[in-house]
Amino acid sequence: MSTVVKGDAGAAVIEHPLRALWSRQRRYRGRFRAAVLASTINKIADVAPEILIGVAIDVVVRGQDSWAASLLGVESRYAQLAWLAAINVVVWIIESLSEYVAAVLWRGLSQGVEHDLRVEAYDHAQHLDLGWHEARPRGTTLATLNDDVNQLERFLDIGVPAILQTILNVLLVGLVFAAASMQLTLLAFLPIPLIIAGSLLFQRRLEPLYVRVRSAVADLSGALQANLAGIATIKAFTAEERERERIEQVSGAYRRANEAAIRSSAAFVPLVRVAILAGFTCTLLFGGWAALNGTIEVGLYSVLVFMTQRLLWPLTDVAEVLDLYQRGRASTARILGLLNEPIEVPQGDRSLAKPVAGRVEIEQVRAGYADGPDVLHGIDMVVPAGETHAIVGSTGAGKSSLLRLILRFDDPRGGRVLLDGVDVRDLDWDSLRGSMGYVAQDIYLFAGTIAENIAYGRPNATREQIIAAARAAAAADFIEVLPGAYDATVGENGVTLSGGQRQRIALARALLREPAVLVLDEATSAVDNETEAAIQKSLRRAGERCTTIVVAHRLSTVRHAHRIWVLDGGRVTEAGTHDELVAAGGSYAALWAVQTGEPEPERASV
Ligand code: CTP
Ligand code: MG
Repeated sequence: MSTVVKGDAGAAVIEHPLRALWSRQRRYRGRFRAAVLASTINKIADVAPEILIGVAIDVVVRGQDSWAASLLGVESRYAQLAWLAAINVVVWIIESLSEYVAAVLWRGLSQGVEHDLRVEAYDHAQHLDLGWHEARPRGTTLATLNDDVNQLERFLDIGVPAILQTILNVLLVGLVFAAASMQLTLLAFLPIPLIIAGSLLFQRRLEPLYVRVRSAVADLSGALQANLAGIATIKAFTAEERERERIEQVSGAYRRANEAAIRSSAAFVPLVRVAILAGFTCTLLFGGWAALNGTIEVGLYSVLVFMTQRLLWPLTDVAEVLDLYQRGRASTARILGLLNEPIEVPQGDRSLAKPVAGRVEIEQVRAGYADGPDVLHGIDMVVPAGETHAIVGSTGAGKSSLLRLILRFDDPRGGRVLLDGVDVRDLDWDSLRGSMGYVAQDIYLFAGTIAENIAYGRPNATREQIIAAARAAAAADFIEVLPGAYDATVGENGVTLSGGQRQRIALARALLREPAVLVLDEATSAVDNETEAAIQKSLRRAGERCTTIVVAHRLSTVRHAHRIWVLDGGRVTEAGTHDELVAAGGSYAALWAVQTGEPEPERASV
């Protein structure tokens, strides 16, 4: 089992990533074994021709006394060689076939694991709470889902078969040597312990280097992603030069991390070569002497010389394999680290009886972000089903934070939030978020058509329903004049909409859901007064069916609300209807006076 430790960056660190991967991807074990089998057959068939060469030389040198003669029971040298040729053809066919099968199996295995892990990791990431995503650069998560998964695929496709080949090579060649002469085996295998010791040493040196490479990739990806997202700001502030330098720095860090790793792993090759040369020289010299003395046959001597070549030269690849292994390991650790991130805001298991009435209660709620201080200090609020309530207050007062709690993007630090009398922590997502229509303060439209965007929360809505929702959000007029109207593509690579247009699409999207609770965070801040009045009218109509909680800076938006809550510094300071609050002459009245341009009664008298 893998042990999970919290790393300094807060990400889970996996102790034995590849072992953890093995115990996790159970469904690929059968395919893995089949691939190992195919590779083994392939390797045996691959070594066989060298043995056949030796046997052929033996036939020529010893004739009737050859191994082939005793094995096949054929006396004529010509017939013996013909037999060897036939065996060679069979071996060659087996070799080619098994090579094909092995390649297909390894490729299929790596692609399958890649695909499964990517989808699984993505799905896990989308279930992680919003706070988790906000706490790290998006590019970092992207790098894991993309680069790290690719790296693992490369390792499984190329690295694992290579490791297997090397091990099989050593075993098979070792067997042939052991059968021939123990003494020569010792000589030829002399370099192997050296190479193994060297590998282990290098591996220990390489591991932290590759961890650094992977985190440098994540940084780079994060920086690029952030810059592309902020391209308008970069241009507006002519920061191109500065940003180029910054990316150059991050990219340079990646390059340096890679170079350090490559320097170390490349130093390994010459070391292996020296060891190999020693082994080869020993076989050549001592094997030759043994053949001259008649201790071993000429045929066997030739097999041994070929075999040493066979055994030792592929070991130069060990460095490369080690490189792939370390990269694969570091990447696997990151992917599994993501998969092991705990879901801090899991859904409950209670569901509400439909239709949901939409009564929202907030009791003594305290909340804050990450390790920061509280931004809400003991909020009490009741929104009866079907009423429209407004939350107003200066910027940073905690209005959006409060709405996030109602949708349960975060859980409160103290107190509770209830929907229809049930703690939202106990509700499943369908009952909670399924009954909400939410327009966030910053709108996100997906790449797709207008109709798809409006129907996002209700994918099977009819065209008539979509159009009705667009009308209600005062969006129909501008949509109808777009080229393609409801089928115009928006989002990435589509038509660019103005801020107010985007808001109205988002509002239509929320309305189409016919939610029990409509949650609007500055949903009409970017539209003009006239449009807003039209939206107000349809919202009041929609509001007859659902509870509406609206945050707005423009007080004309909220003056008709059943109740207005004034938030200041994370506390409710005033509450009441518009008329009550204006009459009370508090901060709401002051704000109202400023916005309507009327002299504020109190101050006017001063
Ligand atoms: N905050 C935070 N982390 C977030 C969001 C907000 O620490 N991810 C903090 C802000 O710094 C702010 C406080 O929480 O001090 C309240 O933020 P918010 O609820 O977003 O304030 P609003 O009242 O919605 O402000 P605005 O009118 O500007 O939208
Ligand atoms: Mg806000």
